[in-house]
Parts: sequence; C-alpha cells; structure tokens
Amino acid sequence: MIKANYPIDKFKDIQTPFYYYDLDTLRTTLEEINQQAKKSDFHVHYALKANVNPSVLAVIKEAGLGADCVSGGEVEAAIKAGIAPSKVVFAGVGKADWEINLGLDNDIFCFNVESIPELEVINELAASKGKIAKIALRINPNVSAHTHHYITTGLSENKFGINMSELDQVIDLIPTLPYIKLIGIHFHIGSQITDMTSFQGLCVKVNEIQNTFLAHNVKLDHVNVGGGLGINYEHPNHFPIPDFGAYFKIFQDHLTLQPGQTLHFELGRAVVAQCGSLISRVLYVKQGTSKKFAILDAGFTELIRPALYQAYHHIENLSSELPVELYDVVGPICESSDTFAKGFSLNQTKRGDLIAIRSAGAYGEIMASQYNLRKLPIGYTSDQLRPLTPKGE
Ligand code: LLP
Repeated sequence: MIKANYPIDKFKDIQTPFYYYDLDTLRTTLEEINQQAKKSDFHVHYALKANVNPSVLAVIKEAGLGADCVSGGEVEAAIKAGIAPSKVVFAGVGKADWEINLGLDNDIFCFNVESIPELEVINELAASKGKIAKIALRINPNVSAHTHHYITTGLSENKFGINMSELDQVIDLIPTLPYIKLIGIHFHIGSQITDMTSFQGLCVKVNEIQNTFLAHNVKLDHVNVGGGLGINYEHPNHFPIPDFGAYFKIFQDHLTLQPGQTLHFELGRAVVAQCGSLISRVLYVKQGTSKKFAILDAGFTELIRPALYQAYHHIENLSSELPVELYDVVGPICESSDTFAKGFSLNQTKRGDLIAIRSAGAYGEIMASQYNLRKLPIGYTSDQLRPLTPKGE
C-alpha cells in the first residue's frame, strides 16, 4: 500500500487533530496550472473559500494567481495576502452593503452580480462614492454538473445567478445605471466535477449567451467560467495533480471568445485539495456487535465533507504496516453522522496510531466548527515542520 511521505517523527510532537499542508505538492500543482493556462493566455483566480490558511495563501499569491472571493472577509484576506485588488473578483448571492463598499473602496477588478436588485444596490453605493463599479453578470446557464446536489449551482432551480429569461431585461437596464460598467459575464455550475462533458455543455451555453449580447451590440471584455474541476479522492497518491491540461483544452476547443476577450477561471479545490491532510490519532478501537470502530480524535467538526456530502476521503494509518482489517472510522462527536468511512481497509490499528485523512486541503480547515465546544484545528505546513538547518551548514 503506497502511503504519503509525511514527517511522522515531527507529527508525534504535535497535538492532534491538525491539518498538514505539503507545500511541495501545492507548488507543483501551481506550476502545472500556470504552465497549462499560459498556453491559452487564461487567467486563474484562486477561490479562497477552499482554504485561507495564511501560509497556503502566501504560496498561491507567490505563484501569481488572482482571487475569487464570496465575502468581505475573503476580500480582506486576499488583499492582506498581497493579491492585487485588480485581480480580485467578488461573487455571492447575498452581498451586504459593507461588503460592496469594501470592494468599491479597494477598486477590485469585478463584482460578479447575481440579481437585478443587487445591480441597483451596487449602482447606488457606487454613486454615493462617485465611483464606477465594474461588474460581470453571473448567469445561471441551467447546465447539469453531474455532481452532488448540494454543490450543484448552475441549474435553474438553484439560487445562483441571473436567469436566462431575464437577460434581455438586464441588458436594457444596465445603460440606465450610470455607476455600473458591464465588463463581463460569469458562470459557475458546481464543484467536484469529474465528467468533462459538463464543462463542454457550459461552453455551448456560453457561446449562445454571447450571441445574445452581440445581438444587442454589447461588448464584453471577459468571460469567467468559474471553477469546479474535480480531484481524485480515491487515489491521492497516484493522482496528486489534476489534469489541468485536459480541463483548459475543453474551453480552448469549445468556447468561442470574441476578439480581445479574455477567459477567466475560479479554481479552488483543484488547487489545494491534494496538498492537505487531516492528521488525527486513534483514541480507541472498539469491537461492536458486527464491526470494529476506529475512534479518532478528529470528527466532523474538523472535516465535515463525509457527513455533509457523503464524500469519500482516502484514509491511511501512518503508524502501522500490519495486515489490513475493516473498520468504521468515526469521530468523537455525539452524532451518528460523525463517520469518516464505513468498512474501510486500514492496516491493523491500535490506540495512539496516527491517521491521515487525505485530500483535505480544500473545504477542510475552513469549514471546521466548534460544535461540542471543540477547539478549532491548527494548520501546519511542511516548511514549518522541516528540521531546522543548523547554523553554518
Ligand atoms: N466560483 C464560485 C462562484 C463558487 O461558488 C465556487 C465554489 C468556486 C468558484 C470554486 O469551486 P471549486 O473549483 O473549488 O470546485 N464545500 C463543498 C464545495 C462548495 C463549493 C462552493 N463554490 C465541498 O466540500 O465539496
């Protein structure tokens, strides 16, 4: 069984549970993104919602990605990390006035606007500052993402974006709002998308929508197709880097850009998921009537994805090479949904063993809660845990 190459000796001294980020994996992922995006001159904004650990964000900033934010807090985090406001996009169905004002004060690149009332509020707030807000219309293209229904966002039944049926009305409204400048259109159909035909379907819809704008003689500087590229949760050791080349090629081959238009992406999970693990310790191994439970000191308070989306995460016992046995891997929270995996093959496990729950760099630490009055987990990077080089060497 291949396992992650982790500094277990260092782990032994750290209070579990904690997040561990392998920055070599993160840097290699970012190099691959930049190399593949460069081929077509695509612009990538990192979706901060996936992970805002400052050390992780610093590496992403260093690689030159822009930021995709969905709250004032994220806009502040992006700017604090040193990402230029001219590379910040700001989406979300419910932007509060202070959040819009924050974006205006910082002259961000673009607000991705999700409704007509929001357009009117941004126009008013911009007017009171004497500023012009640059906006893209987030359009709901009614395209299936073939993913979990909780993370499907581009169907007409979802709350996101402006409906296609409202397009003509919005196009007519915009020239009447003097403090709004329309610079693009935006889409995001869902997350953990592994069926590439979904993105192809999106391209077809984008081309149709672009024709509607052309018919109205409206020029758009950019198209933003959101994020959503899935990762391989089953085999993180074999497929640590998502296939960015194949992903970008879908858009290169199927999306028609108008002359001078740029294409933007908002990738979150594909950037950070594989570099992160939740490291936990086995508290007890308990024999149930029909199965064995490995009870960890981490629960859904640290990683909610299995409980919330029935998500699979690969699990490794870092302390054991003994033959495998089947375990239900569970946490200490007082709810039966606090289960990471059922009937999972782990090397024979005992109290005190270190467990890595893999592919947890995205939507892990950031979704942690204090339910049961638990402490929020700390995130450590491989750089922080590297042995210090003695002076003079
Ligand atoms: N852009 C927008 C407007 C979004 O809403 C999202 C994610 C992204 C970009 C980034 O998507 P990604 O590339 O990461 O798929 N907590 C869930 C995922 C929620 C995603 C929400 N929106 C999970 O753990 O699976």
